[in-house]
Amino acid sequence: MAENSASREQWGSRIGLILAAAGNAIGIGNLLRFPGQAANNGGGAFMIPYFVSLLVFGIPMMWIAWTIGRYGGRYGHGTLPGQFDKMWRKPFAKYIGVIGLALPLIFCLYYTYIEAWCLGYSWFSLTGNYVDSPGRVVDLSVYLQEFLGDLPTHAYFPGLTAAFTFLLITLALNIFILYRGVAGGIELLAKIAMPLLVLFCIILSVRVFTLGQINGTVWDGLSFLYTPDFSRLGDPLVWMAAAGQIFFTLSIGFGSLECYASYLSDNDDIALTGLTTASANEFVEVIFGSMIAIPAAAVFFGADRVKEIAGSGTFNIGMISMPEILRSLPGVEFFGTIWFLLLFFAAFTSSVAVAQPVVAFFQDEAKLSRKTSAMLIGIFWLLGTIPVIWFKKYGVFDEMDFWAGTVGLVVCAAIEVILFAWIFGMGPSWEELHRGAEIKVPRVFYYVIKYVTPFALIGVLIGFFYSANLTPTPKINLAVTDRHTFTGEFVNQTGPQAAAEIDRLEAAVKAAVTETGRDLSAWAEIEFDGAGGRTVTTFQGDPALQRVFNQDQFARWLELKGFTYQQKRDGQAASAPISAKATLMFEVLNTGPFIWLARIIMIAFFIVFGVIVHAIWQARSAEAAQTGGTA
Ligand code: PHE
Repeated sequence: MAENSASREQWGSRIGLILAAAGNAIGIGNLLRFPGQAANNGGGAFMIPYFVSLLVFGIPMMWIAWTIGRYGGRYGHGTLPGQFDKMWRKPFAKYIGVIGLALPLIFCLYYTYIEAWCLGYSWFSLTGNYVDSPGRVVDLSVYLQEFLGDLPTHAYFPGLTAAFTFLLITLALNIFILYRGVAGGIELLAKIAMPLLVLFCIILSVRVFTLGQINGTVWDGLSFLYTPDFSRLGDPLVWMAAAGQIFFTLSIGFGSLECYASYLSDNDDIALTGLTTASANEFVEVIFGSMIAIPAAAVFFGADRVKEIAGSGTFNIGMISMPEILRSLPGVEFFGTIWFLLLFFAAFTSSVAVAQPVVAFFQDEAKLSRKTSAMLIGIFWLLGTIPVIWFKKYGVFDEMDFWAGTVGLVVCAAIEVILFAWIFGMGPSWEELHRGAEIKVPRVFYYVIKYVTPFALIGVLIGFFYSANLTPTPKINLAVTDRHTFTGEFVNQTGPQAAAEIDRLEAAVKAAVTETGRDLSAWAEIEFDGAGGRTVTTFQGDPALQRVFNQDQFARWLELKGFTYQQKRDGQAASAPISAKATLMFEVLNTGPFIWLARIIMIAFFIVFGVIVHAIWQARSAEAAQTGGTA
């Protein structure tokens, strides 16, 4: 099954293919995004829409992806432009297929960055870098934000050097695997990483389930996740979150599974393989995704706070709450390292999968060598990631995640289901799916794919556009600049917030930023009285800011936000705030130009690949006309 110049690469073995496909699907989505989404969307309330989405979108789209991929692979096409071209048989189809190149590349730009954080945090765990020591209290929330350059302060990281270093290592590892090819790289990686992943999951689950009782028990965490809450079933946002999670976690709508499927032969089973991939992914997600981070957080912080932690940010359960828990237990160097290596391996087998379509495109269509193709994507990748890292605090990362990881994949999936069910036709598609199949897909899926999936997908898309805010707004940041002197943390206690008044106060500074086109900032000195109150003693800064936002308004804003100071005892917050003084930095960022930069980069990818596809097909038909053959 070795590669030779006449035929495309192939998987080395069936077990290797299954592991690689599982590695493709199992990623950050399973271990971080899933618990975060579940906690954020009401725990048990999430699970019903989640399983419905699995049946309506997940499993059908799996089969669709494998069918499209293997069909295209028969004609030597590993990516959507060529695959759509063969199945659709219309000249415009190849251009629509460009989505299967631009989307995964955009996705790579920020997904590998998350992968790099996990690598970085394994290192920080191994070296005990985030463990409190005499004279150095580590506020893990600030630690994470400083690592990512989201704050103007530098208590733990002088700048973005650490983040960049881990990103470069991660990129190099990815390029190395792609460079080695399908069987020699991706498959080999999966054979090593997947067993380790399961082993790490087991070790961590056992550790969490033997924690006993602190502020809660593991069962509080599990019942939070699995007690269905029927009252939330009417909330469309919960349904959209569940559908979004299914797409993301199963790697659907990226052209990535299609590319893996293209390395199969015509009579290799895809019906069972597709189902196995989905099952392996769901097993890791539902079992391990819910047995580690959420139960651990419930033990340490109590079930009530789990929701709050998850609600405060996507990565907080995995990258703030988990290290907080692990560092207060013996053996953080071991368990912390394992937790982050687990995330890293999960991400690594996914990032090579999402990059492979671009490599395959250069190989299959531009007839470049694999090595050249791998180097070429490396260049795109590195250049594209720099703005994601550099301007993360301006929302570039989130913007790309929104378009690629939330909306884009649903658009791509919608195109694929229409192609499968309505263009190629349900009859021929069904037959294609069953060619060489080891199982027979229940007939009910025939009708689900034909009618339910496409309409439900369109519903989800309408929902996204309806709920999205497409105009960039300035972002407000509050940072404590002199935390070294404190043995505690500053918290945003979600009190009885007067949302309307907060909006009104913030609107003024946001307008000032939009008007001046600059970031505006101010410094404030604050005294906390220990009873939950605070007095702002100084407020100085940019005149453009101070004109619309004075000391009193700032004080009122802090009060409404419930901003206070908590002393910590034994790594846990003490019940009452204590008196202290602090210097704060308040900044309002002009995100607009950066959001547009992100959008331009994304559009540029579509254009560049569109032009390349156009040129390649033109050249091909010119050649065909000369030789009298067919293109
Ligand atoms: N499914 C991966 C995850 O759960 C993400 C991914 C999407 C990977 C698309 C490849 C292609 O993290």
